[in-house]
Amino acid sequence: MVTASAPGKVYLFGEHAVVYGEPAVPCAIDRRARVTVERRADDHLRVHAEDLSLDGFTVEYGGTASGDPDVDVPQSLVEAATGYVDAAVEQAREAADAPDAGFDITIESEIPLGAGLGSSAAVTAAGIYAAAEELGADLSTDEVAERAYSAELAVQEGNASRADTFCSATGGAVRVEGDDCRSLDAPDLPFVVGFDGGAGDTGALVAGVRELKNSYDFAADTVAAVGDLVRSGEAALAAGDLAELGELMNFNHGLLSALGVSSRSLDAMVWAARDAGALGAKLTGAGGGGCVVALDETEETETALRYLPGCEETFRAELDTEGVRVE
Ligand code: MEV
Repeated sequence: MVTASAPGKVYLFGEHAVVYGEPAVPCAIDRRARVTVERRADDHLRVHAEDLSLDGFTVEYGGTASGDPDVDVPQSLVEAATGYVDAAVEQAREAADAPDAGFDITIESEIPLGAGLGSSAAVTAAGIYAAAEELGADLSTDEVAERAYSAELAVQEGNASRADTFCSATGGAVRVEGDDCRSLDAPDLPFVVGFDGGAGDTGALVAGVRELKNSYDFAADTVAAVGDLVRSGEAALAAGDLAELGELMNFNHGLLSALGVSSRSLDAMVWAARDAGALGAKLTGAGGGGCVVALDETEETETALRYLPGCEETFRAELDTEGVRVE
């Protein structure tokens, strides 16, 4: 039996635009997904998940993702979770040259599903690492990142950048531009996260931005403007200039709103954070609902979000410099 974990993340800058080759800077945070994998005698997968914005569920099905899980929770949530697990197992089977390997899998996650904190990338990276390890294949971090990207690409039907999976695999602050993925030096970043209890559909949101970009020049210009902003953000990060980082986060949120991926509750949390004196605040991840990230060294933003109607949870997050690991 092997347990592996990988961190979730917030986007300091650049989500959505990164899908079109612009740079992005996601940062791993100290909330992890843990995946425990035990080899079975047959080729079935049995998946038990807890804390993925679900009450918990167990599904068992034969061989591949084509099974029809019979469970008592919304099918869309089960498919969202098991789709990534299936794809992760497929990658591990391939890496270990064990195409018929079956597993009992337990997922425990501190990261809500579909909320912009990278739960799917964390589950995918940890799942690949644990399953490969259980089959005797010791994967390097780079191999996990590469295979996690392939898995996400398959589940999201070609609509994925390398940003989420590279960040979860390596940890820390990273910069991703197309195929070029690297780690960045970062100062202490006083992240405050607000969660509205909801979730966005990443595939649909990415497809929506693609359609907007194909239909309107302003949207293509907005995507390019996010890229310019990220380049300024990198300089601010290198200089440790938190005030400038905050201002650029505010601009980034405005550009994401223009691309149609914010929501009333995300905007409300962003404005509550700014009113409380945060250096900056923006939605994080695909949007549509889920989480915002703010920069604030004081307690004010956390307090303001805690009492904001519609904000279900708020917490302070630290940069996590450790990526995927065996527990
Ligand atoms: C989702 O966490 C981030 C997006 O940029 C999609 C991706 O990069 O694959 C919206």
